[in-house]
Amino acid sequence: MSEQKNKSMKRVQKILEHPFYRECVEKIARYEKDRKFCGHDMVHFLDVARIAMLLNLEENKKPIRKDWVYGAALLHDIGRFIQYEDGTDHARASAVLAPEILKDCGYSKEETEVIVEAIANHRNKKIRDGSDLKGILYRADKASRPCYGCLMEPECDWKRKKKNMTLEI
Ligand SMILES: [Fe+2]
Ligand SMILES: [Fe+2]
Repeated sequence: MSEQKNKSMKRVQKILEHPFYRECVEKIARYEKDRKFCGHDMVHFLDVARIAMLLNLEENKKPIRKDWVYGAALLHDIGRFIQYEDGTDHARASAVLAPEILKDCGYSKEETEVIVEAIANHRNKKIRDGSDLKGILYRADKASRPCYGCLMEPECDWKRKKKNMTLEI
C-alpha cells in the first residue's frame, strides 16, 4: 500500500475510534434496538462508504479522496439520535456534530467544509445528480438499502418509486 493511501485510511480509522463518534453510534443503537426497518448503524455507514467509492471511481476521472468519501459516509447519519430525541432533521444535526470529530481526526477547515456540505445535503434531492461529494453521498445512501431482499419491504413507508427493487450497484 502506498504511503498516501495508508495515511488516508489512518484518518478514517481515527473517526472510527473517536470517543464522541462511538458515543453517537451507541446512542443511535439504543434508539433503534427494536426497529424493524433499515437501521443507521456501522453496516449502513460502511455500505454507503463503499458504494460511494464505486460511484466515485466510475464517474470521476480524478476521483475524490477516499478519506473524504469515507469521512462523509461514516458521519452522515451521526445526528440521528437527536432526531429521535427532539425531531431535528438528522442531516442538519449530523452537520453540526461532524466538524469537531473531523478536526480531531486531522481534516483541515477546507476539507471539513466540503464534507459537512455533503452531510447537510444528504436528503436534498436537488443535488443528487452531481458527481461531487454531495451527489455521490446522496445516491450511495439511497442505493445502500436492499429493498429487493428485505422482508419488511411491504410494510416500509418509502414510496414504491424510491425503493430499490432492482440491484443497480
Ligand atoms: Fe440519513
Ligand atoms: Fe444514511
